[in-house]
Amino acid sequence: MRVFVTRRLPLDPRSLAPAGIDVDVSPRNRPLSADEIAAAARDADGLISMLSDPLDASLLARLPRLRVIANYAVGVNNVDLAAAAARGIVVCNTPDVLTAATADLAITLVLMLARRTRAAERLLRTGGFDGWGPELLLGASLDGRVLGIVGLGRIGAAVGRRARAFGMRLLYASPRPSPAAAAELGAEHVPLGDLLARADVVSLHAPLTAETRHLVDARALARMKPTALLVNTARGPLIDEAALADALESRTIAGAGLDVFEREPSVHPRLAGRDDVVLLPHVGSATRETREAMARLAIDDCFAALQGRPPKHRF
Ligand code: DGY
Repeated sequence: MRVFVTRRLPLDPRSLAPAGIDVDVSPRNRPLSADEIAAAARDADGLISMLSDPLDASLLARLPRLRVIANYAVGVNNVDLAAAAARGIVVCNTPDVLTAATADLAITLVLMLARRTRAAERLLRTGGFDGWGPELLLGASLDGRVLGIVGLGRIGAAVGRRARAFGMRLLYASPRPSPAAAAELGAEHVPLGDLLARADVVSLHAPLTAETRHLVDARALARMKPTALLVNTARGPLIDEAALADALESRTIAGAGLDVFEREPSVHPRLAGRDDVVLLPHVGSATRETREAMARLAIDDCFAALQGRPPKHRF
């Protein structure tokens, strides 16, 4: 059997391969095109894929032997799940191990926005700091403010736990209530429209699906407070970036912290230069420990499924 890995990982799958499974890792340390994946994986039984790999029906049709996709991500929006199911291809992902790192980064974005760290650091580095001042770079306190969590899954709940430690009160919106997590966090389940209207900070933790694409559009932004902050560590297309740029330009909301982008890796040109926007290059899960744990999960699950054992995280 043969496994193709579309990008170098922090653990080398070749060193973990059991007898009978040959592993090839892409020699190009960059995202591959559909044609490159089709050529390199045409005789692969298993694929360890990245969230940037477009595993749609037409590409899957060019991988006739494929039985397992182990996606190196918790999100599987890059995989056509219906096409995979129709072919009997097992799809695995890497949840749990990235929860804490991603929640940490969401809180980082909230703090950077609330405390204006981008403007503050620039002031200092450009020589504009001439001493402490009572009104220098005043931000917003989090204590007592309302965090609206969109999607109270593992990462949303972990963000809620951290926000509680900062004294924030919690609302959440989700198609399915999560009574256990809500009780633990003291989070109130409300319709999305109410959450947008009441929250001081809105943090997105929903998967990207046909239903959630542009969940935050011009109408949703118009419901938010003019002082509100929007944070996205989930998937870029949850936000209509043109509408977000309009909302920031017209002061409909006060700021946005984005780790993910609608047309990743491109950043909307009207967002890129703004001081009220913090931009990070999709590093939510980027700690060494987390990325190694994700690699271990993806590798183990790919080999398990190929060997007829149950994978730990079949999507
Ligand atoms: C995921 O796993 O979906 C993350 O976006 C990777 O950081």
